[in-house]
Amino acid sequence: MRATAAAYSVAADGAVVQACVMSEYRAAAYGDVWADFLDTWIMMTGSVPAPAMLDLIVELARGGRVLELGVGTGYMAIPLAARGVRIEGLDGSPQMLARLAEKPGGDQVVAHFGNFADVNVDGLFDVIFFASSSLFCLPDQESQVRCFRSSAAHLAPDGVFVVATYINSDRWFRDHRLHFIQAEGDGWRMHWNAINHPELQVTDVERVLESADGERRFPHRERYCSPAEMDLMAQLAGLRLRDRWLDWAKRPFNGEGEAISVYERTAL
Ligand SMILES: C[S@@+](CC[C@H](N)C(=O)[O-])C[C@H]1O[C@@H](n2cnc3c(N)ncnc32)[C@H](O)[C@@H]1O
Repeated sequence: MRATAAAYSVAADGAVVQACVMSEYRAAAYGDVWADFLDTWIMMTGSVPAPAMLDLIVELARGGRVLELGVGTGYMAIPLAARGVRIEGLDGSPQMLARLAEKPGGDQVVAHFGNFADVNVDGLFDVIFFASSSLFCLPDQESQVRCFRSSAAHLAPDGVFVVATYINSDRWFRDHRLHFIQAEGDGWRMHWNAINHPELQVTDVERVLESADGERRFPHRERYCSPAEMDLMAQLAGLRLRDRWLDWAKRPFNGEGEAISVYERTAL
């Protein structure tokens, strides 16, 4: 994959203080920034996968083989394994996979190293899924289409491709910029700063953690797309939309917030 990405350093109040050009896109880029902190962050925010997230994957899997794209440190995969799901995970970050392997229950997840733009794990799956909008880690439309195609090629005849995404809104941005406090606790605060490039459907995000230890910055780039664009990617990949919900608990989709999209094969 070849892509250049502008990386912006953004002050806590959202002002751009520096812009530079990053080298070409690497599948490990997100993990390089987040791997050593992700589990701490999950603990700080008290986040656990909602039972409905796990229930839906269990239901769709019907006892079959499941692959999570962007498995990270196993936030979803480890609890799924604990529920008896035959779960495998693909990730482009060796650091994320190392953390997954060393966690209790991590050895129950079959881990694969690779770029999810070109899924190349052996065999077919009953469910392939993205949690947490990780599809948007891919930097452009072309690589996202490749991801749909290569995922479709790894679906069993009755398999489904599940893509969880947020729905971007221009209303969030003022002068293409966005700043809010994502979370805060005793002695720490996480800022979310973003610059939107609507012509590219790209957002450069920099989260800034302020704490007694000083500031730590977590930059990454997201290439967002609408549910309608994903449906077209699916069509190009020989898939069609089977269901779309607002959340994992299957509340009706309303075009705002999030989408849980479930795709199935159109024909064999
Ligand atoms: C937002 S994190 C989600 C991690 C985990 N699923 C969770 O819910 O905590 C995105 C994950 O995708 C991985 N990732 C990003 N781009 C990737 C790519 N092109 N190929 C494979 N993995 C990638 C990152 O290393 C990271 O583990």
